[in-house]
Amino acid sequence: MGTFVTLSSGQRMPTIGLGTWKSSPGQVKQAVVAALECGYRHIDCAAVYGNEQEIGEALALCVGPGKTLRREELFVTSKLWNTKHDPEDVEDACRTSLAHLGLSYLDLYLMHWPMAFQKGKELMPRRNDGTICYSDTHYRDTWKAMENLVDKGLVKAIGLSNFNARQMEEIIRVAKHKPVVNQVECHPYLSQADLLSHCQSLAVCVTAYSPLGSGDRPWASPEEPSLLEDPKLGAIAQRYQKSPAQVILRWHIQRGVACIPKSVTPSRIQQNLDVFDFNLSQEDMKQIDSFSCMRRFIVPTAVDGKTVWRDAEHPHFPFH
Ligand code: A2P
Repeated sequence: MGTFVTLSSGQRMPTIGLGTWKSSPGQVKQAVVAALECGYRHIDCAAVYGNEQEIGEALALCVGPGKTLRREELFVTSKLWNTKHDPEDVEDACRTSLAHLGLSYLDLYLMHWPMAFQKGKELMPRRNDGTICYSDTHYRDTWKAMENLVDKGLVKAIGLSNFNARQMEEIIRVAKHKPVVNQVECHPYLSQADLLSHCQSLAVCVTAYSPLGSGDRPWASPEEPSLLEDPKLGAIAQRYQKSPAQVILRWHIQRGVACIPKSVTPSRIQQNLDVFDFNLSQEDMKQIDSFSCMRRFIVPTAVDGKTVWRDAEHPHFPFH
Protein backbone atom coordinates (compact mmCIF):
# COMPACT_ATOMS: atom_id res chain seq x y z
CA MET A 1 0.00 0.00 0.00
CA GLY A 2 1.36 3.42 -0.93
CA THR A 3 0.28 6.87 0.16
CA PHE A 4 -3.21 6.25 -1.27
CA VAL A 5 -5.55 3.28 -1.38
CA THR A 6 -8.14 2.97 -4.13
CA LEU A 7 -11.53 2.08 -2.67
CA SER A 8 -14.08 -0.10 -4.48
CA SER A 9 -15.94 3.13 -5.32
CA GLY A 10 -12.88 4.30 -7.28
CA GLN A 11 -12.07 7.02 -4.72
CA ARG A 12 -8.45 7.50 -3.68
CA MET A 13 -8.21 7.58 0.11
CA PRO A 14 -4.95 8.74 1.71
CA THR A 15 -3.57 5.78 3.66
CA ILE A 16 -2.81 7.89 6.75
CA GLY A 17 -5.50 10.13 8.15
CA LEU A 18 -5.68 12.24 11.28
CA GLY A 19 -7.76 10.61 14.02
CA THR A 20 -9.85 13.00 16.11
CA TRP A 21 -11.43 10.77 18.78
CA LYS A 22 -10.31 12.04 22.20
CA SER A 23 -9.06 15.34 20.72
CA SER A 24 -10.89 17.86 22.82
CA PRO A 25 -12.50 21.01 21.53
CA GLY A 26 -9.74 23.51 22.22
CA GLN A 27 -7.06 21.12 20.95
CA VAL A 28 -8.54 19.69 17.81
CA LYS A 29 -8.62 22.88 15.75
CA GLN A 30 -4.88 23.46 15.96
CA ALA A 31 -4.27 19.73 15.44
CA VAL A 32 -6.23 19.72 12.18
CA VAL A 33 -4.50 22.90 10.98
CA ALA A 34 -1.09 21.41 11.83
CA ALA A 35 -2.03 18.21 9.99
CA LEU A 36 -3.21 19.99 6.85
CA GLU A 37 -0.10 22.20 6.87
CA CYS A 38 2.25 19.22 7.02
CA GLY A 39 0.52 17.31 4.25
CA TYR A 40 -2.41 15.30 5.69
CA ARG A 41 -5.33 15.14 3.29
CA HIS A 42 -7.51 12.70 5.25
CA ILE A 43 -9.36 13.64 8.44
CA ASP A 44 -11.43 11.11 10.37
CA CYS A 45 -14.36 12.53 12.35
CA ALA A 46 -17.54 11.36 14.05
CA ALA A 47 -20.61 13.07 15.43
CA VAL A 48 -20.17 11.37 18.80
CA TYR A 49 -16.68 12.81 19.31
CA GLY A 50 -18.38 16.15 20.01
CA ASN A 51 -15.74 18.17 18.17
CA GLU A 52 -16.94 18.44 14.57
CA GLN A 53 -17.68 22.15 14.92
CA GLU A 54 -14.06 22.88 15.89
CA ILE A 55 -12.83 20.68 13.05
CA GLY A 56 -15.08 22.75 10.79
CA GLU A 57 -13.35 25.91 12.02
CA ALA A 58 -9.97 24.44 11.09
CA LEU A 59 -11.23 23.40 7.66
CA ALA A 60 -12.63 26.88 7.10
CA LEU A 61 -9.17 28.34 7.75
CA CYS A 62 -7.41 26.12 5.22
CA VAL A 63 -9.88 24.91 2.60
CA GLY A 64 -11.90 26.71 -0.05
CA PRO A 65 -11.62 29.67 -2.44
CA GLY A 66 -8.60 31.81 -1.61
CA LYS A 67 -7.23 29.25 0.91
CA THR A 68 -4.30 26.87 0.52
CA LEU A 69 -6.40 23.76 -0.25
CA ARG A 70 -9.28 22.90 -2.51
CA ARG A 71 -12.10 20.77 -1.07
CA GLU A 72 -11.48 18.07 -3.72
CA GLU A 73 -7.98 17.55 -2.32
CA LEU A 74 -9.36 16.41 1.02
CA PHE A 75 -10.86 13.12 2.16
CA VAL A 76 -13.22 13.69 5.11
CA THR A 77 -15.00 10.88 6.96
CA SER A 78 -17.75 11.15 9.53
CA LYS A 79 -19.90 8.56 11.31
CA LEU A 80 -23.55 8.03 12.10
CA TRP A 81 -24.09 7.65 15.84
CA ASN A 82 -26.07 4.78 17.39
CA THR A 83 -29.02 6.97 18.41
CA LYS A 84 -29.59 7.92 14.76
CA HIS A 85 -30.10 4.48 13.22
CA ASP A 86 -33.82 4.94 12.63
CA PRO A 87 -34.01 5.40 8.83
CA GLU A 88 -35.97 8.60 9.30
CA ASP A 89 -33.14 10.15 11.37
CA VAL A 90 -30.21 9.29 9.10
CA GLU A 91 -30.33 12.21 6.69
CA ASP A 92 -30.71 14.78 9.48
CA ALA A 93 -27.76 13.28 11.32
CA CYS A 94 -25.63 13.48 8.19
CA ARG A 95 -26.71 17.05 7.50
CA THR A 96 -25.83 18.03 11.08
CA SER A 97 -22.30 16.66 10.67
CA LEU A 98 -22.00 18.47 7.33
CA ALA A 99 -23.15 21.74 8.89
CA HIS A 100 -20.71 21.38 11.80
CA LEU A 101 -17.84 20.57 9.47
CA GLY A 102 -18.88 23.35 7.07
CA LEU A 103 -18.92 20.96 4.12
CA SER A 104 -21.41 20.26 1.35
CA TYR A 105 -20.48 16.59 1.09
CA LEU A 106 -18.52 13.90 2.94
CA ASP A 107 -16.11 11.60 1.17
CA LEU A 108 -17.14 8.75 3.42
CA TYR A 109 -19.92 8.20 5.96
CA LEU A 110 -19.68 5.18 8.25
CA MET A 111 -22.24 3.44 10.43
CA HIS A 112 -20.32 3.82 13.69
CA TRP A 113 -21.51 0.57 15.36
CA PRO A 114 -23.76 -2.30 14.37
CA MET A 115 -26.12 -1.63 17.26
CA ALA A 116 -28.83 0.99 17.59
CA PHE A 117 -29.55 2.93 20.76
CA GLN A 118 -32.89 4.45 21.66
CA LYS A 119 -33.34 7.63 19.64
CA GLY A 120 -33.29 11.04 21.28
CA LYS A 121 -30.88 13.69 22.50
CA GLU A 122 -28.95 11.45 24.93
CA LEU A 123 -25.89 9.97 23.21
CA MET A 124 -25.85 7.12 25.74
CA PRO A 125 -29.50 6.65 26.73
CA ARG A 126 -29.68 4.67 30.00
CA ARG A 127 -32.29 3.12 32.23
CA ASN A 128 -32.33 3.93 35.95
CA ASP A 129 -30.12 0.91 36.63
CA GLY A 130 -27.49 2.38 34.31
CA THR A 131 -27.87 -0.10 31.44
CA ILE A 132 -28.06 1.22 27.91
CA CYS A 133 -31.45 1.47 26.16
CA TYR A 134 -31.12 -0.23 22.79
CA SER A 135 -33.49 0.03 19.88
CA ASP A 136 -34.32 -2.90 17.63
CA THR A 137 -33.76 -0.96 14.39
CA HIS A 138 -31.79 -3.38 12.26
CA TYR A 139 -28.55 -2.18 10.67
CA ARG A 140 -29.79 -3.39 7.28
CA ASP A 141 -32.56 -0.77 7.42
CA THR A 142 -30.10 1.89 8.55
CA TRP A 143 -27.87 0.95 5.62
CA LYS A 144 -30.71 1.46 3.14
CA ALA A 145 -31.18 4.99 4.50
CA MET A 146 -27.44 5.63 4.20
CA GLU A 147 -27.58 4.55 0.55
CA ASN A 148 -30.03 7.40 -0.08
CA LEU A 149 -27.32 9.82 1.07
CA VAL A 150 -25.10 8.64 -1.77
CA ASP A 151 -27.96 9.01 -4.25
CA LYS A 152 -28.59 12.55 -3.00
CA GLY A 153 -24.92 13.51 -3.31
CA LEU A 154 -24.49 14.23 0.41
CA VAL A 155 -21.77 11.59 0.68
CA LYS A 156 -19.49 10.05 -1.94
CA ALA A 157 -19.39 6.61 -0.32
CA ILE A 158 -20.63 4.73 2.72
CA GLY A 159 -19.05 2.15 4.94
CA LEU A 160 -19.07 0.36 8.26
CA SER A 161 -17.27 0.51 11.56
CA ASN A 162 -17.00 -2.16 14.26
CA PHE A 163 -18.77 -4.76 12.10
CA ASN A 164 -17.70 -8.38 12.31
CA ALA A 165 -17.49 -10.63 9.23
CA ARG A 166 -21.03 -11.98 9.51
CA GLN A 167 -22.60 -8.55 10.00
CA MET A 168 -20.60 -7.15 7.09
CA GLU A 169 -21.75 -9.95 4.76
CA GLU A 170 -25.33 -9.33 5.78
CA ILE A 171 -24.98 -5.74 4.59
CA ILE A 172 -23.21 -6.74 1.38
CA ARG A 173 -26.04 -9.18 0.51
CA VAL A 174 -28.63 -6.38 0.49
CA ALA A 175 -26.45 -3.45 -0.59
CA LYS A 176 -27.05 -1.35 -3.67
CA HIS A 177 -24.00 0.73 -2.67
CA LYS A 178 -21.41 -1.63 -1.18
CA PRO A 179 -19.49 -0.69 1.97
CA VAL A 180 -16.08 0.56 0.85
CA VAL A 181 -14.47 0.52 4.30
CA ASN A 182 -14.80 -1.33 7.60
CA GLN A 183 -13.10 0.74 10.30
CA VAL A 184 -12.17 -1.41 13.29
CA GLU A 185 -9.83 -1.42 16.25
CA CYS A 186 -6.54 -2.80 14.93
CA HIS A 187 -2.96 -2.67 16.22
CA PRO A 188 -0.17 -5.17 16.86
CA TYR A 189 -1.88 -6.48 20.03
CA LEU A 190 -5.12 -7.05 18.03
CA SER A 191 -4.02 -7.75 14.48
CA GLN A 192 -7.49 -8.70 13.15
CA ALA A 193 -5.82 -11.13 10.72
CA ASP A 194 -9.01 -13.10 9.96
CA LEU A 195 -11.24 -10.06 9.56
CA LEU A 196 -8.57 -8.39 7.40
CA SER A 197 -8.34 -11.28 4.93
CA HIS A 198 -12.13 -11.52 4.87
CA CYS A 199 -12.44 -7.82 4.08
CA GLN A 200 -9.74 -8.07 1.43
CA SER A 201 -11.64 -10.93 -0.26
CA LEU A 202 -14.73 -8.67 -0.38
CA ALA A 203 -12.83 -5.59 -1.64
CA VAL A 204 -13.60 -3.77 1.62
CA CYS A 205 -10.68 -1.64 2.83
CA VAL A 206 -9.85 -2.01 6.52
CA THR A 207 -9.05 1.20 8.34
CA ALA A 208 -7.42 0.80 11.74
CA TYR A 209 -8.69 2.96 14.56
CA SER A 210 -6.57 3.08 17.68
CA PRO A 211 -3.70 2.06 15.37
CA LEU A 212 -1.16 2.91 18.08
CA GLY A 213 -3.09 1.21 20.88
CA SER A 214 -4.91 4.32 22.13
CA GLY A 215 -2.80 4.86 25.23
CA ASP A 216 -4.97 7.90 26.03
CA ARG A 217 -8.26 5.97 26.20
CA PRO A 218 -10.07 7.33 29.24
CA TRP A 219 -10.37 3.91 30.93
CA ALA A 220 -6.71 2.88 30.46
CA SER A 221 -5.27 1.31 33.58
CA PRO A 222 -1.59 1.47 34.50
CA GLU A 223 -1.50 -2.35 34.77
CA GLU A 224 -2.32 -2.78 31.08
CA PRO A 225 0.67 -3.07 28.75
CA SER A 226 1.46 0.01 26.69
CA LEU A 227 1.95 -0.89 23.05
CA LEU A 228 4.14 2.14 22.29
CA GLU A 229 6.45 1.18 25.17
CA ASP A 230 6.74 -2.50 24.23
CA PRO A 231 10.50 -3.25 24.43
CA LYS A 232 10.36 -5.70 21.49
CA LEU A 233 8.89 -2.95 19.35
CA GLY A 234 11.46 -0.49 20.67
CA ALA A 235 14.26 -2.81 19.56
CA ILE A 236 12.88 -3.00 16.02
CA ALA A 237 12.39 0.77 15.91
CA GLN A 238 15.97 1.34 16.95
CA ARG A 239 17.26 -0.77 14.07
CA TYR A 240 15.31 1.32 11.55
CA GLN A 241 16.08 4.59 13.36
CA LYS A 242 12.37 5.28 13.49
CA SER A 243 10.04 5.75 16.45
CA PRO A 244 7.86 2.88 17.73
CA ALA A 245 4.80 4.75 16.41
CA GLN A 246 6.32 4.94 12.93
CA VAL A 247 7.15 1.23 12.95
CA ILE A 248 3.58 0.37 13.93
CA LEU A 249 2.13 2.59 11.20
CA ARG A 250 4.50 1.06 8.65
CA TRP A 251 3.38 -2.44 9.76
CA HIS A 252 -0.26 -1.44 9.13
CA ILE A 253 0.52 -0.04 5.70
CA GLN A 254 2.56 -3.04 4.58
CA ARG A 255 -0.33 -5.37 5.46
CA GLY A 256 -2.76 -3.19 3.49
CA VAL A 257 -4.46 -1.38 6.35
CA ALA A 258 -5.19 2.35 6.30
CA CYS A 259 -4.65 4.13 9.64
CA ILE A 260 -5.96 7.15 11.48
CA PRO A 261 -3.45 7.84 14.27
CA LYS A 262 -4.76 10.47 16.68
CA SER A 263 -2.46 13.16 17.93
CA VAL A 264 -2.81 16.75 19.07
CA THR A 265 0.98 17.23 19.16
CA PRO A 266 2.35 18.88 16.00
CA SER A 267 5.69 17.01 16.06
CA ARG A 268 3.91 13.65 16.38
CA ILE A 269 1.33 14.58 13.75
CA GLN A 270 4.22 15.21 11.37
CA GLN A 271 6.12 12.10 12.44
CA ASN A 272 3.08 9.88 11.84
CA LEU A 273 2.96 10.91 8.19
CA ASP A 274 6.67 10.32 7.73
CA VAL A 275 6.35 6.56 7.22
CA PHE A 276 6.79 6.16 3.48
CA ASP A 277 10.59 6.16 3.27
CA PHE A 278 11.39 2.77 4.78
CA ASN A 279 10.30 -0.86 4.56
CA LEU A 280 10.01 -3.41 7.34
CA SER A 281 11.58 -6.75 6.41
CA GLN A 282 9.42 -9.87 6.16
CA GLU A 283 10.96 -11.14 9.42
CA ASP A 284 10.14 -7.93 11.26
CA MET A 285 6.59 -7.95 9.87
CA LYS A 286 6.21 -11.51 11.13
CA GLN A 287 7.63 -10.63 14.51
CA ILE A 288 5.15 -7.78 14.92
CA ASP A 289 2.34 -10.10 13.72
CA SER A 290 3.30 -12.42 16.56
CA PHE A 291 2.54 -9.74 19.20
CA SER A 292 -1.19 -10.20 18.58
CA CYS A 293 -2.91 -11.42 21.74
CA MET A 294 -6.59 -10.48 21.26
CA ARG A 295 -6.10 -7.45 23.47
CA ARG A 296 -9.09 -5.32 22.61
CA PHE A 297 -8.86 -1.89 24.19
CA ILE A 298 -12.16 -0.52 22.92
CA VAL A 299 -14.95 -2.80 24.11
CA PRO A 300 -18.48 -1.59 24.54
CA THR A 301 -18.46 -3.24 27.97
CA ALA A 302 -17.19 0.19 28.94
CA VAL A 303 -20.56 1.42 27.74
CA ASP A 304 -22.80 -1.20 29.29
CA GLY A 305 -21.12 -3.36 31.89
CA LYS A 306 -21.71 -6.41 29.69
CA THR A 307 -20.38 -7.33 26.31
CA VAL A 308 -22.70 -6.17 23.59
CA TRP A 309 -20.46 -6.72 20.62
CA ARG A 310 -18.48 -9.85 19.88
CA ASP A 311 -15.62 -10.55 17.54
CA ALA A 312 -15.26 -13.19 14.88
CA GLU A 313 -14.68 -15.91 17.48
CA HIS A 314 -18.10 -15.23 19.02
CA PRO A 315 -20.16 -14.03 16.10
CA HIS A 316 -23.42 -13.70 18.01
CA PHE A 317 -25.10 -10.43 18.45
CA PRO A 318 -27.78 -9.93 21.07
CA PHE A 319 -30.59 -8.89 18.76
CA HIS A 320 -30.11 -10.94 15.61
P1 A2P B 1 -1.05 13.02 21.73
O1 A2P B 1 -2.40 13.18 21.10
O2 A2P B 1 -0.97 13.63 23.09
O3 A2P B 1 0.06 13.46 20.82
P2 A2P B 1 -4.34 6.09 18.85
O4 A2P B 1 -4.23 6.78 17.54
O5 A2P B 1 -3.97 4.63 18.80
O6 A2P B 1 -5.70 6.32 19.50
O7 A2P B 1 -3.27 6.71 19.85
C1 A2P B 1 -3.37 8.04 20.29
C2 A2P B 1 -2.38 8.25 21.42
O8 A2P B 1 -1.05 8.07 20.93
C3 A2P B 1 -2.44 9.64 21.98
O9 A2P B 1 -2.15 9.56 23.36
C4 A2P B 1 -1.34 10.37 21.24
O10 A2P B 1 -0.81 11.43 22.02
C5 A2P B 1 -0.31 9.28 21.12
N1 A2P B 1 0.57 9.42 19.93
C6 A2P B 1 0.19 9.73 18.67
N2 A2P B 1 1.25 9.74 17.84
C7 A2P B 1 2.34 9.44 18.61
C8 A2P B 1 3.73 9.32 18.34
N3 A2P B 1 4.22 9.50 17.11
N4 A2P B 1 4.55 9.00 19.38
C9 A2P B 1 4.05 8.81 20.63
N5 A2P B 1 2.77 8.91 20.95
C10 A2P B 1 1.90 9.23 19.94
